[in-house]
Amino acid sequence: METHLFFAFLCAWICLSVPLESCIAADSIRIDQSISDGETLVSSGQSFELGFFSPGSSKNRYLGLWYKNTPQTVVWVANRNNPITDLYGVLTIFKNGAFVLLNQTKSVIWSLNLSKVPENPVAQLLETGNLVLRDSSNESSESYIWQSFDDPSDTMLPGMKVGWNLKTGLQQKLTSWRSADDPSLGDFSYRIDINVLPYMVLGVGSSKKVRSGPWNGLEFNGIQVLDNLVYKAVYVYNNDEVYTLYESINNKIISRLTLNHSGFLQRLVSKKGGSEWDEIYTIPSELCQNYGHCGANGICKIGKAQICECLPGFTPNSHEEWDMFNTSSGCTRRRPLDCQIEEGFVKVTGVKLPDLIDFHVIMDVSLRECKVSCLNNCSCTAYSYLKAYAYSNPNGNGGCLMWSGDLIDIRELTSEKHPEDIYIRMHTSELGLNTNQKKKLVIILVISTFSGILTLGLAVWFLFRKKRTMGTGMHTYPP
Ligand SMILES: *[C@@H]1O[C@H](CO)[C@@H](O)[C@H](O)[C@H]1NC(C)=O
Ligand SMILES: *[C@@H]1O[C@H](CO)[C@@H](O)[C@H](O)[C@H]1NC(C)=O
Ligand SMILES: *[C@@H]1O[C@H](CO)[C@@H](O)[C@H](O)[C@H]1NC(C)=O
Ligand SMILES: *[C@@H]1O[C@H](CO)[C@@H](O)[C@H](O)[C@H]1NC(C)=O
Ligand SMILES: *[C@@H]1O[C@H](CO)[C@@H](O)[C@H](O)[C@H]1NC(C)=O
Ligand SMILES: *[C@@H]1O[C@H](CO)[C@@H](O)[C@H](O)[C@H]1NC(C)=O
Repeated sequence: METHLFFAFLCAWICLSVPLESCIAADSIRIDQSISDGETLVSSGQSFELGFFSPGSSKNRYLGLWYKNTPQTVVWVANRNNPITDLYGVLTIFKNGAFVLLNQTKSVIWSLNLSKVPENPVAQLLETGNLVLRDSSNESSESYIWQSFDDPSDTMLPGMKVGWNLKTGLQQKLTSWRSADDPSLGDFSYRIDINVLPYMVLGVGSSKKVRSGPWNGLEFNGIQVLDNLVYKAVYVYNNDEVYTLYESINNKIISRLTLNHSGFLQRLVSKKGGSEWDEIYTIPSELCQNYGHCGANGICKIGKAQICECLPGFTPNSHEEWDMFNTSSGCTRRRPLDCQIEEGFVKVTGVKLPDLIDFHVIMDVSLRECKVSCLNNCSCTAYSYLKAYAYSNPNGNGGCLMWSGDLIDIRELTSEKHPEDIYIRMHTSELGLNTNQKKKLVIILVISTFSGILTLGLAVWFLFRKKRTMGTGMHTYPP
C-alpha cells in the first residue's frame, strides 16, 4: 500500500514539475506493475483509456475501457458479473505471468484463463481500443496471448470480429448490459449462429429478435448494406472462421456499433476528438425486421399499407386477426399438399430466405437436381438454390436448401442486397394459371387440324391479339 502511495505521489510530483505535454500516461504494464483505482492506462494516440469506473448511479467499481474524449462511453468491461465494492481494486501482472484484477483482500475478481504463459508479459492498451497481453519481445498480432477484442462486451469497434473461430471454438459476440447501472450480462446478444449454414442473429434470451438470411456462398442473405464514407463491413466464411467486422475508412470520423440494454443495435458516429455521438441507424427500426412478424408462411413487404401477405397458395389462419393487423397467427395452405407427381412450385423472387428450422442442405447439385430432390421428398415444402456457391465450384453446381413444414420470417428485399429466390411447393390445383394456358394452346392445335388455312389465319389473329393485350404495341392490326 505504502509503495503504491509513494509511486502515485512520485508520479504526481513528476507531472507537476514538467511541461504538461510530456506527462503522458503509460499505455502498458509489465510484471509487478499495476493500476490502482484512480490510475489509468491511455493508448499512445490518446483515443482510449483503461481504468476503474462506476456505471450510472451505481457505487460498484468495474475495470473498463472508454473513449478518452467521452469517458461515459464505456466500450469494454472486464469484471462484468463481479463488481468490486470499494475503491481498492488493482490490476496487475504476477511474476508467473498471470494477468489479474484483485480486490482489497487480494481475492481474484477477474483473470484470464491462459493456455500458455508469456515469458516476459506485457499488457498494452492499443490505439484501436484493444487491450492485449503478449510477450514484450514480439509486437505482432499473431503473438497475442489474449486480446479484449476476443471477449467483446456490448460494443463493436473497428477491426473487432463478431463470429466464430471454427478451429478453436472461440465465439465473439456482443452481449448487452443489464441496465445503465449494471454492466453484467443482459438478455440481448448480437452473434452468428450456425445451423449447417451460418446466419446473423440479434437475440433475446434463447429467442430471435432479428435475423439475417443464411450465408449464400458469398455473403449473408438479406443484410442491409448501407453505402457510406465512414466504415466498410466485411463478411468472411471459410474453413477456419466465420465472422463479420467493420473497418474504418475515414480517419477523421470514429464509429461504433453498440447493443444497448433495451436490445437495439445502434450505429453511432462521432468526429474524431469530439464528444457527441450521432446515431446513423438502429436495428430493429422497421416492422419487417422483427422476427416472424407476419407469422408462419407469411411474407413481409415494407412499403405496403398491409405489410404482411400470405405466401402464394396460402390464406390467413384468422381473417379477423389479419384485418386488425394482428398477423402473428400466420397463414395456412388453401389446398394441403398430397404429394402427387404433378405438384409444382411457385417462384417468389428477391427475398430473405426463411429461418433454417426444419431444413436440409445438399451441396454441389444443379438447379434441376435441387427441384427434383424437393419434389421427390413428400415433406419438402420449399427449396432455394444458392448460386453463389457455384462460382467457386469447378462443376458450376450450387447449394440446394430444402425446407419442411412452415416457412418463417420471409421478407421481400428492396434496398437490401443479396436477395435470393424461393420455390414454394403447390398443390396441383394452385398451379391453375399454368394449366389454363396449356388448355388454350391445345384448343388452337385442335382447330388447326380440322380446317387448314382458315385456322392458320385464326391462329395468327389470336397471336397478334394476345401480343397486343400484352402491351407489345402492335396497334395497326385489327382485333
Ligand atoms: C474480495 O472478494 C472476495 C471474494 O469475492 C470476498 O469474499 C471479499 O469480501 C472481498 N473483499 C472486499 C474487501 O470486498
Ligand atoms: C480454463 O480453460 C480450460 C481449458 O481451456 C478449461 O477446461 C477450464 O474450464 C477453464 N477454466 C475456467 C475457470 O474458465
Ligand atoms: C512473433 O510471433 C509470431 C507468431 O508467434 C512469429 O511468427 C514471429 O516470428 C515472431 N516475431 C519475432 C520477432 O519473434
Ligand atoms: C437503445 O436504442 C434505441 C434506438 O436508438 C433507443 O430508442 C433507446 O432509447 C436506446 N436505449 C437506451 C437505454 O439507450
Ligand atoms: C394476436 O393474435 C394472437 C392469437 O393468434 C393473440 O394471442 C394475441 O394476443 C393477439 N395480439 C393482439 C395485440 O391482439
Ligand atoms: C426429406 O426431408 C426431410 C426433412 O427435411 C429429411 O429429414 C429427409 O432426410 C429427406 N429425405 C430424403 C430422402 O432426402
